[in-house]
Amino acid sequence: MLIKRANDILSSEITPEPLYHNRRQFIRTAGAAAAGLAVGSIIEQPLRRLSALEQQDWKPKQKSPFDTDEKLTPYKDITTYNNFYEFGIDKDDPAENAQNFKTKPWSVKVEGLAKKPAAYNLEDLLKGITLEDRIYRMRCVEAWSMVIPWLGFPLSELFKKFEPLPKAKFVEFTTLLDSNQMPGQKRPYLNWPYVEGLRMDEAMHPLAIFAVGLYGKELPNQNGAPFRLVVPWKYGFKGIKSIVKIRFVENQPVSTWTQANSDEYGFYSNVNPSVDHPRWSQSSERRIGEFFKRKTLMFNGYGEYVEHLYAGMDLKRYF
Ligand code: MTE
Repeated sequence: MLIKRANDILSSEITPEPLYHNRRQFIRTAGAAAAGLAVGSIIEQPLRRLSALEQQDWKPKQKSPFDTDEKLTPYKDITTYNNFYEFGIDKDDPAENAQNFKTKPWSVKVEGLAKKPAAYNLEDLLKGITLEDRIYRMRCVEAWSMVIPWLGFPLSELFKKFEPLPKAKFVEFTTLLDSNQMPGQKRPYLNWPYVEGLRMDEAMHPLAIFAVGLYGKELPNQNGAPFRLVVPWKYGFKGIKSIVKIRFVENQPVSTWTQANSDEYGFYSNVNPSVDHPRWSQSSERRIGEFFKRKTLMFNGYGEYVEHLYAGMDLKRYF
């Protein structure tokens, strides 16, 4: 990819009710053929993992102003403990079943209220964009968290190429719909394709990024290749993976999880220890690799940067 790196120049476990049932059955039925293929391919082509030594030595080339100094979650955990329901329900399914997922070439459709709506080739879109390592803590809705060194760039850098109109108050993202490649889409446990959205001012915040890599390497398929959303002050499910459509709209989009259960998953989904999920508390979390739980921080610890976005809003109502 012809992408500049910042320093080269200057630079849930959310398990809705229906998923509780038949968890392991998934791959053995609908996705069996594809899963068989993927398992075979793992043996021939191991995951592009960093060696323990490489990972230990990894340092961001340049620090981003929002970075955390907390201990990084190991690459192995980040790439093998995933939610990506298009590839299965269990945490280890995506690493196993997404190996043959084809991410090149990749087309992104831009639609709606923008001066330059079109179908773009991702490689072309990324030309001239500066990639930066950004170390964010990520918090899943069901109380596990990780610290991930993403390689990415602010949404605003890409959006300026499309010139959204002032009437665009929200942006909606959509994941690829292709049940041949994504066996989970053969099962109706979510309304496919996966859809997410942000208010435009949230999307334009410099903490909201598109990630194309982690630990300085290309994004593994199970983490949302070739590019996915990362919004660190929100619960992990807002981070929609493998995006094929960006639509600028006037009205608030309805996300897949809100469609699945609007009492449990609101549009904003800001990390908020004082608003519990109806089925569990959100006040503490377990960092992957740690034994003791820690208290969850408002906005996942990014309050000083983002709380102004929600001034005057009742966050219990707009959860
Ligand atoms: N995007 C799509 N298309 N499909 C999914 O199932 N899962 C979400 C989010 N993005 C999901 C998705 C959830 S629930 C989480 S917690 C994060 O991806 C996990 O991202 P990670 O695997 O990189 O940690």
